[in-house]
Amino acid sequence: MTLFPTMFPGPLGLSLAGKALNSGIWNLKTLDIRNFAPNKSRSVDDYPFGGGSGMVMRPDVVDTALEAVADRPGPRLYPSPRGAIFDQSWAKILAKEPGAVIFCGRYEGLDERVIKARKLKEVSIGDFVLSGGEPAALIIMDALIRLLPGVLRTTTALTEESFENGLLEYPLYTHPRNWNGIIVPEILTSGDHAKVKAWKRLEAESITRKRRPDLWKQYMKNKDK
Ligand code: ADE
Repeated sequence: MTLFPTMFPGPLGLSLAGKALNSGIWNLKTLDIRNFAPNKSRSVDDYPFGGGSGMVMRPDVVDTALEAVADRPGPRLYPSPRGAIFDQSWAKILAKEPGAVIFCGRYEGLDERVIKARKLKEVSIGDFVLSGGEPAALIIMDALIRLLPGVLRTTTALTEESFENGLLEYPLYTHPRNWNGIIVPEILTSGDHAKVKAWKRLEAESITRKRRPDLWKQYMKNKDK
């Protein structure tokens, strides 16, 4: 649900997600929130009580719009910088849902009453502010779509990637083996699968420890269990 329906499917109409859309693995219905504005001016926002900058989306308009999709399955998500941070484990949970309704706000945000009344689940894609929920919705959808059965060619693509074991992914190399005098780590061309596996784990641990102390701490905690 959006004030800018032409933003969808946008980038999700291309590549992996686009192919999956064409083959019916997922589908999308975009609803223009403005269709639910009551007055001739078709306005969906108004001034905030108590002052403050910007405009607020009216609860009556938002409520009517959400009522129109009451029969749709799945959670009601509202992308917002105030939400819980979206991550891979949340993506996995959402990918198992029969669907989802994503309400993209514009302006300063939605009237608090309708967020509560409609039990909208606020979801943030990071600690920064976007000009609207649409790019966040596209990002969330992208993360879910690639988890749907049949979207990726191999399942190891999903088990060996970043966050899968609580670690960032190990570094990747391809041909040529010697590029500008920089040689691919020898273990990777040794053919010793056990050694390769151990190397990947060590590299993943090292990169996670250096770059993401938060993930590292969690990983060490889980390891001890
Ligand atoms: N809308 C504006 N900023 C956002 C963010 N960081 N995450 C999700 N939705 C948003």
